[in-house]
Amino acid sequence: MGKLDGKVAIVTGGARGMGAEEARILAAEGARVIVCDVLDEEGAAVASSVNGTYRHLDVTQESDWADLVATAELSLGRIDILINNAGVVGFSPVDKTDLTEWNRVIGINLTGVFLGIRAVAAPMAAAGGGVIVNISSTAGIMGYSNLSAYVASKWGVRGLTKAAALDLAKDGTRVVSVHPGGVRTPMTAGIDTGDMYASQPIHRIGEPAEIAKLVLYLVADATYSTGTEFIADGGATVGQVLDI
Ligand SMILES: NC(=O)c1ccc[n+]([C@@H]2O[C@H](COP(=O)([O-])OP(=O)(O)OC[C@H]3O[C@@H](n4cnc5c(N)ncnc54)[C@H](O)[C@@H]3O)[C@@H](O)[C@H]2O)c1
Repeated sequence: MGKLDGKVAIVTGGARGMGAEEARILAAEGARVIVCDVLDEEGAAVASSVNGTYRHLDVTQESDWADLVATAELSLGRIDILINNAGVVGFSPVDKTDLTEWNRVIGINLTGVFLGIRAVAAPMAAAGGGVIVNISSTAGIMGYSNLSAYVASKWGVRGLTKAAALDLAKDGTRVVSVHPGGVRTPMTAGIDTGDMYASQPIHRIGEPAEIAKLVLYLVADATYSTGTEFIADGGATVGQVLDI
């Protein structure tokens, strides 16, 4: 018997990287998973590999969310779990970031999370309560150079998580944020991280499965946690080593 038998889960950005791994682990525990993305071919392949369904969903589009929720309720009867995982990164210093790029990153990483929470709130309440896991970042715990829009979006996700947890507690819905450090996915494939991993307490990049296992724990077992942060970053945000 799986920990999530009978549950319906939505994973955004589920076509690859961490989202694909989250879809796999939730399905392995018995959830019926709806994989959502804008990469239709890759998303459909992940969905079929987990016996789930694929939906094209651009997280910035209200109408995509409305269609998804209507279809999910009609075909699967309920929504219990939302993993707000879709995200993009963009590199530029704050004084060189144009408004279009700022709006793109904030739109997908923060407004997309808001739209997702809002869309599933009523169906989750109707199902007796649910769990929403928002994938933030260590960029929602500290600052990084050349990442102003990304950092702002991920701090926004952390704050939105707390506000939503307070608002949705009345429905029995928990909302938490996850803060990964560097993880080996297509997002980080081309990025030169220098000695970032050498200087953190666990001297290596993380694997998507390590984040997915945390997400499963939050969904299935962390029944006394809401509105709070869960960090999986190899210790990157713990502090500074003093060489004295
Ligand atoms: N990889 C890392 O080191 C790392 C670290 C911390 C946090 N994160 C966060 O984890 C999440 C997953 O990242 P990843 O590393 O797996 O990245 P990824 O690029 O491999 O996957 C992101 C997925 O989101 C999808 N996506 C992008 N825009 C979308 C949109 N508008 N609507 C729907 N889907 C969209 C992409 O198509 C892709 O499938 C992101 O929120 C990212 O910011 C990643």
